[in-house]
Amino acid sequence: MDEKNDLQIDATLAKIKHRIIVLSGKGGVGKSFIATNLAYGLALQGKKVGLLDVDIHGPSIAKFTNVEGVPIQVHPISGKPAPIKVLSNLWVLTIASMLSSDSSAVIWRGPLKTALIRQFFSDFDWDELDYLVVDCPPGTGDEPLSIIQTLKWVDGAVIVTTPQDMAILDVKKSIDFIQKLNVPILGIVENMKFFRCPHCHKITTIFQGNQLEKMIFEYSLDLLAELEIDPAIATSADQGKPYIYFNNKQPSAKALMEATLKIIEKVERSKESAHK
Ligand SMILES: Nc1ncnc2c1ncn2[C@@H]1O[C@H](COP(=O)(O)OP(=O)(O)O)[C@@H](O)[C@H]1O
Ligand SMILES: [Mg+2]
Repeated sequence: MDEKNDLQIDATLAKIKHRIIVLSGKGGVGKSFIATNLAYGLALQGKKVGLLDVDIHGPSIAKFTNVEGVPIQVHPISGKPAPIKVLSNLWVLTIASMLSSDSSAVIWRGPLKTALIRQFFSDFDWDELDYLVVDCPPGTGDEPLSIIQTLKWVDGAVIVTTPQDMAILDVKKSIDFIQKLNVPILGIVENMKFFRCPHCHKITTIFQGNQLEKMIFEYSLDLLAELEIDPAIATSADQGKPYIYFNNKQPSAKALMEATLKIIEKVERSKESAHK
């Protein structure tokens, strides 16, 4: 049975060109927001993209992409379950689509979580993808470990953090975790860096800290984007209107698109050189 699953997983993985995971040390730092917006950014660049939510206990991708209550689809050709198509070139898969209500708590231990994550590949019919973007729960638990092991290799990880020093120790743990699993770090997204008053335009640093800069230097990391606290981000999430798609003139949307382009450059360049 497991062998049959392995074969099905391999067949799905063969259809996915690039694999990116989004991680953070802490919760509430904007990981699901970034994962959603990177997926939409990649789709806006013409890539075929899958967005997979492996935050089994706190799935929020359905809300961010406005597919709450939409049941999983049936693939028109194979008749197998399929991710939900939200754009002509973007598909979303989340456990939330399989639960009866978005407030139901899922009580699952490690091995069941691993089995579920494997099923996302063995039982679902994905289209050919240029990119799979995976939104993980915070920290270094079963889900990021299982997804990395199931994917077999990952092009890279995007680590999301807020600027305060409290968060940095946890970011270092995330870095240590993915380095042990031989996953390259694509870079850091510094979210909620400051707030710009919409009335007087004065900038206020809400989360103070100077350790992030030091850490970026110490670990030779790339800062992919610095995003401000923008009420439109929170509203867009609540309304299920992906920020980068509906607010493309905003500074944070531009920064997210730049981060997307940097990721494409890094991932596709390193693949090219690997094939030379
Ligand atoms: N830069 C930002 N400005 C305003 N709100 C934000 C920003 N980044 C994230 N949010 C909001 O904060 C909340 C938590 O973000 P989320 O992506 O769910 O965090 P995580 O996945 O890390 O737990 C969401 O409601 C989201 O819309
Ligand atoms: Mg989240």
